[in-house]
Amino acid sequence: MENFFSMKESKGPIGFFDSGYGGLTVMKEVVGALPDYDYIYLGDNARAPYGGRSFETVYEYTLECVKKLFDLGCPLVILACNTASAKALRTIQQKDLPTLAPDRRVLGVIRPTTEIVGNFSSSRHVGVLATTGTVISASYPIEIKKFFPDLIVHQQACPMWVPLIENQEEKSSAADYFVKKYMDELFNQAPSIDSIILGCTHYPLLIEKIKRRIPEGVQIIEQGLIVAESLTDYLSRHKEMEMRLRKNKSRKFYTTETPEIFDSSASYFFGSPVKSDRMII
Ligand code: DGL
Repeated sequence: MENFFSMKESKGPIGFFDSGYGGLTVMKEVVGALPDYDYIYLGDNARAPYGGRSFETVYEYTLECVKKLFDLGCPLVILACNTASAKALRTIQQKDLPTLAPDRRVLGVIRPTTEIVGNFSSSRHVGVLATTGTVISASYPIEIKKFFPDLIVHQQACPMWVPLIENQEEKSSAADYFVKKYMDELFNQAPSIDSIILGCTHYPLLIEKIKRRIPEGVQIIEQGLIVAESLTDYLSRHKEMEMRLRKNKSRKFYTTETPEIFDSSASYFFGSPVKSDRMII
């Protein structure tokens, strides 16, 4: 494996990181929008879910994975995980990058979502479905306030959803039960919610069940397309980064779990066949 310090001048892939499978729902849309680039995905499945973990642990795990993606030559890494974006991104950007790799960039998925959410809502009541960690961080209300100070944000933690999805139980009756439970709790907070952010990259796997539990006219905001648009815009404004990205259309996948376990679910999340290698952290 090449060391990232020696990779400074050469071109490299765009790195995607998630605690598990969820980031593949984002990478899928980004690859669709920007197919020419090389991509590397790293899922920390062995230590997922991150949603109930402390700030310190999510930061430590995320930084380890970002360093691995740097080692693999990525000049740009996307934290395609809301929990990591909420709990680790700022510290990595402000504290670690300046000494570790000042010429590299790490971006998250919360900011692009909060920049546009106000365009969807008429009632000005917005729901955010997320992991407990993301909810406790208050990243969504804080960021949304910067762009749309008039919006009222109602957060709903959904701690059972990621474990169900990571264990391929998203089609089960248990998933039905927990989708109904959290959606009822969200709308009990504010029946006038008219837009809902899926603030966890795993949740698109539950979208059909979620749709069945929302009143007519309520919109669901998924992050994949939003992040794809935002990254396209970022690369058009940051030519110095764009020029450092390799364009051979290669896609590589790594998991900290057993690849055989990862590949079948990952193919489902990504929408096309995935063949991964093991990453030892
Ligand atoms: N996909 C991660 C997110 O967007 C899942 C979090 C978890 O591992 O609990 O928050």
